[in-house]
Amino acid sequence: MMNENAIEVAILGCGQMGQHILEHLRDCPWVRGITVFDRNADRMESLKQGFAVSTAATLDEVLRNPEIKLVFITASNNAHKELAVAALEAGKAVMCEKPMATTLADATAMVEAAERTNGFLQVGFELRYSRLYTTVKDWIEGDLLGRVLNTQCTYISSAWGKHSSWRVASKTSGGMFGEKLSHYVDLVRWWVGDEVEEVYATCAPNVIPYYEVHDNYHCSYRFKNGAVSQLTFMMGPAATFKGDPLQNAVSQQSGDGHMLRYMICGEKGAAETDVFPRTIKRWEFGDNDWGQTSAWVQNETWDPQYDFAYFHNTHDQARDIVRRVAEGKPPSINPRDALETTRLCFAAELSATEKRPVRLDELK
Ligand SMILES: NC(=O)c1ccc[n+]([C@@H]2O[C@H](COP(=O)([O-])OP(=O)(O)OC[C@H]3O[C@@H](n4cnc5c(N)ncnc54)[C@H](O)[C@@H]3O)[C@@H](O)[C@H]2O)c1
Repeated sequence: MMNENAIEVAILGCGQMGQHILEHLRDCPWVRGITVFDRNADRMESLKQGFAVSTAATLDEVLRNPEIKLVFITASNNAHKELAVAALEAGKAVMCEKPMATTLADATAMVEAAERTNGFLQVGFELRYSRLYTTVKDWIEGDLLGRVLNTQCTYISSAWGKHSSWRVASKTSGGMFGEKLSHYVDLVRWWVGDEVEEVYATCAPNVIPYYEVHDNYHCSYRFKNGAVSQLTFMMGPAATFKGDPLQNAVSQQSGDGHMLRYMICGEKGAAETDVFPRTIKRWEFGDNDWGQTSAWVQNETWDPQYDFAYFHNTHDQARDIVRRVAEGKPPSINPRDALETTRLCFAAELSATEKRPVRLDELK
């Protein structure tokens, strides 16, 4: 049943991600109506066939409609800043997909626009809504791991992006770190609860020859509180996936070379999340006559029907954002927090390019 405070929303950019958002919001009790705008008019027409949505011929039509309170920006990365700043200045609340923008200056301008207009801006880091990772956050907040000291993430995937995709060109993508890895550094910042001081990223020559962006990294970063993190990423080795990476990905990519595993080590214990075997584990450290001990105390799994909730939980994120805007609540992720993840991504890219460690305060 529709909530009495339900609002109208718009989706700006209706490719793969925009259509996911549309699916998520179709029967959302907080949504009274959905308008879509894409610069590709044919795409909008085909959406009208499948969904009960209105279409806007221009961005201005969306921005001038006082009924529309919230816009989801799911256009390609190079359009985010222009759309977000225009929407905030028109008084709309904004949910913008990651990465915030293709440059740090543009991402900063978005946050400044939100602050100047006293507006709502939330960036799409949906892994903060995913049960696999909120479980780790709960363990940390419940002091089961102690202070987080050391994390390691290994991520191996198949290639995405056709030869002509905006994703593979540096200018339209903004770099692989923002486009693909921002989720995974954002999680670690969230778990550690501190800011990164210095990052060092190295890259080998690309496996995928037509990518302008890097397709691999070994990246280390050190937090101000002394914690360290490592992220190893390789794109290309896992078997080519022909489906939609947000749908049935866990089942279809399991055992074919895809890997996405974290080990999180604290002073009192450790945790491991492993997407493809669907496991989450916890260890508790102790001490006895023998010396330091580690006991394996938790080992959970989940049913494949809950993959969405455990992994890329864009569903709950989209609905939570609509509810927050309808109820006049602030974003669940502060835009300055999202900007720090963005700064870390650009620092990692700079480090890889200049082949040297980069301090985050070098990037203003
Ligand atoms: N959170 C996630 O896990 C996740 C997953 C996939 C994509 N994304 C993000 O979602 C965004 C879209 O990705 P996608 O896979 O849907 O790309 P896509 O290429 O399938 O769709 C992008 C759409 O944006 C439209 N567009 C581009 N510029 C526009 C503008 N100025 N105004 C209106 N429409 C415009 C294009 O016509 C296209 O239809 C990207 O920022 C991407 O990083 C996030």
